[in-house]
Amino acid sequence: MELLFYSLAGIIVIVVIAVSRKSIVAGMEARSDINRENKPGDTEEGIEDITNENIEKTNEQVKIINQIDDLILIVDKFKNIKFFNNSAKKKFGENNLNKHVATLLRVPDLLQNIDLVLLKKETITMDLELSSPSFQFFKVHLFSGPTSYVDDPDSVVLFLKDLTDIIKAQRFKSDFVANVSHELKTPLVSIKGFLETISGHAKDDLEAQKKFIPIMLEQADRMESLIKDLLSLSKIELEEHIQPQDKVNLKEILNNVEDIHQKNLKPFEFKNNIKDDFFIKGDHEKLIEVFSNIIDNSIKYSDKNKKIEINCGQGNGKVIGDSYTVSIKDNGIGIPTEQIPRITEIFFRVDAAKSKKVGGTGLGMAIVKHIVNQHRGELEIKSEAQSGTEIKVHFSKF
Ligand SMILES: Nc1ncnc2c1ncn2[C@@H]1O[C@H](COP(=O)(O)OP(=O)(O)O)[C@@H](O)[C@H]1O
Ligand SMILES: [Mg+2]
Repeated sequence: MELLFYSLAGIIVIVVIAVSRKSIVAGMEARSDINRENKPGDTEEGIEDITNENIEKTNEQVKIINQIDDLILIVDKFKNIKFFNNSAKKKFGENNLNKHVATLLRVPDLLQNIDLVLLKKETITMDLELSSPSFQFFKVHLFSGPTSYVDDPDSVVLFLKDLTDIIKAQRFKSDFVANVSHELKTPLVSIKGFLETISGHAKDDLEAQKKFIPIMLEQADRMESLIKDLLSLSKIELEEHIQPQDKVNLKEILNNVEDIHQKNLKPFEFKNNIKDDFFIKGDHEKLIEVFSNIIDNSIKYSDKNKKIEINCGQGNGKVIGDSYTVSIKDNGIGIPTEQIPRITEIFFRVDAAKSKKVGGTGLGMAIVKHIVNQHRGELEIKSEAQSGTEIKVHFSKF
């Protein structure tokens, strides 16, 4: 639906450009932006046709085209750029006039299509996907460029509609559905398999039943955790723009989290050093979820050195104004430095097998990130493989 809308919008702008393209180029001339090559057919009389009134009108039109969010480039028959609007300047930089279009967009299909437009004078629409420096997606309309007031009648207009955000959202949605289905299907298939076994050939085999039932329960727990985390994530995503306003005490929240995890913390050397009250604007339950997830990870990803330390103190300027910083430091397996930026992505795990073995859903840190964002706080992750992890959360004071 959005694609259709943007395509239509694109076509409307193309019509506007097509109608005014003669004038645009006159404007280009008027502004002496273009390095012209004199052509035999170019006559003094032709140029005299541009009256002052025309120039003013044209400059107005160039102004309008410079206001458009979409990227507009005009190239000559050598594919050198002869005009680009402000949006194109913003995207590709200021100094691209007269450069070959391939210096900006090295895409063989695009270059071929420019040739086709030059040859057949038809309008061509194509998708353009770039992966460097980051993913970008454009719907490109190419059509025959201005034929009057230019030295060279063969030029091509490239109209680029930036659909990056829409395509990203669409792909994210379909990846998300595929991931969730996969995550739910795995335990379900396993439960079904065991049920078939104990209701079929192992019907009277008590030993087999004793062995399979706990595994089935574990798989059912995994599905339950996944659904709980998914619901949590979808709720927080909906509320992310509303900053919680209650006066909450970080000391109380971290004591509550400690109580919740008491059983799992038993084998740990656990030190909660928070003695003072630290008041911030927040949502008590959601902050419990944040620190539960972080401490839960410290517990799960600490194989040998079972030391976890919690501190809170004055912040160090990561958020605007006076702030507090909570730090949770473990001495566990750590996170390889290059993977750190990814651990807040949905379903990203450094080691999927390890995460599943300890009952992870791959959603905990994504939930943490969204709740911290909702609180207008900052998340800072310091870690190295095999050297433990320190997660800091910065909040503005109440
Ligand atoms: N304290 C930690 N120590 C080591 N690795 C961690 C820690 N916290 C998170 N990770 C890594 O980040 C991944 C994502 O964390 P999370 O979103 O909570 O998912 P999971 O359900 O797998 O724990 C984990 O799978 C793990 O690889
Ligand atoms: Mg986790």
